[in-house]
Amino acid sequence: METDKAIELKPEEISALEEKYLFATYKRSDLYCSHGSGIYLFDMYGKRYLDFLGGISVNSLGYSHPRLARVLTEQGQRLIHCSNLFYHPYQGALAKKLVEASGMARAFFTNSGTEAVEAALKIARSYGNARAGSSKSVILTLKNSFHGRTFGALSITTQDKYQAPFRPLVPGIEVVAEFTVEALEEAFSDHVCALVMEPVQGEGGIVPLPESFVRAGRELCDRHDALLVADEIQCGLGRTGRYFAFEHYGIKPDVMTLAKSLAAGYPLGAVLGNTRVAESLGPGDHGTTFGGGPLACRLALEVLNIIEEEDLISKVDALGHYLMDAIRKMASQHRSIGEVRGMGLMIGIEMGAAAKEAVPRLLKKGIITNAAHETVLRLLPPFIIEKKDADEFLSALDAVLGEIEAES
Ligand SMILES: Cc1ncc(COP(=O)(O)O)c(C=O)c1O
Repeated sequence: METDKAIELKPEEISALEEKYLFATYKRSDLYCSHGSGIYLFDMYGKRYLDFLGGISVNSLGYSHPRLARVLTEQGQRLIHCSNLFYHPYQGALAKKLVEASGMARAFFTNSGTEAVEAALKIARSYGNARAGSSKSVILTLKNSFHGRTFGALSITTQDKYQAPFRPLVPGIEVVAEFTVEALEEAFSDHVCALVMEPVQGEGGIVPLPESFVRAGRELCDRHDALLVADEIQCGLGRTGRYFAFEHYGIKPDVMTLAKSLAAGYPLGAVLGNTRVAESLGPGDHGTTFGGGPLACRLALEVLNIIEEEDLISKVDALGHYLMDAIRKMASQHRSIGEVRGMGLMIGIEMGAAAKEAVPRLLKKGIITNAAHETVLRLLPPFIIEKKDADEFLSALDAVLGEIEAES
């Protein structure tokens, strides 16, 4: 089918095609996307949605940002792809920017989050092998974590629903079963080459890790010559009101993964490493066809420039506090609201069964959210929302919870 014919498909024809020809991996909502502008997504009927999910932490600059559209067109006409056999101007420039922002030393670019995690795992094993051969190969991961769907990343994703059909998984993974210093100490030994953590767990239901736990993780990694790997794919790049979520904890990881909002909608991921791991990937040790292409890297540079020039990270911090305070205040009128967790514009509202009921009702009212970990209403709005948009969300939430509570 020609592409200009696909645009004429009616919603029911689109879903029929997918039902017939796609693996049934996605349970989509009845929202047929047409286009987006700023903080709004529009469906094929012309209905406007306030996006409080931001493409799951991807669309940090909203939709159709004019500066990104300009880069896309300009670079699209110049050079979309060249192989990693050759140089182009943007990969090194983006690496420099990320390295300087994070205090790391080196970068490798991927196409997705899960591939960034795979690269981090290879760095971890290579680091361990260089020190003590295969005896230093244990990778510690945390309960309730999510790191991606490829085999390495899946093997450190400690949620049964993702792992069960695909066992056996990659060997040498051990789980820290509680977020306590004691559990960490018990799990550690000189056999450990890396501890992997999301400073704020995302798919696990927006769970910021306790500060004492993260700090103890850093100390134990140092004591046992292991790497601390921060997966900042969902929580990094300004989302928590700091450039990187690890900054809230006063520590620095050795390795960090990024993706999602890096090129704000164009696929791009990265693994960054400090000087300790600078030698852990050498010539021929890793590679990718697409990762770090000129279009993706130039877009990411523009994204980071916009975030910096418009001081968006401080705005994320301020609006995040405003939203979280307001939701906590609403808890006195709504019994469905439990714990409100998060940092910046990465917010989770513990709601029990009401979370899954609230999502479609909010959607009907023109607001996009989702339920993470079954019971948590997850908010990841674009950084460019304003107070009036937060207020629109709050009054819709108030109304929806009123309906749900009146019915139960
Ligand atoms: C923390 C974290 N790591 C890794 C991933 C995997 O990223 P991707 O879906 O781009 O492979 C995700 C995706 O949700 C994530 O939230």
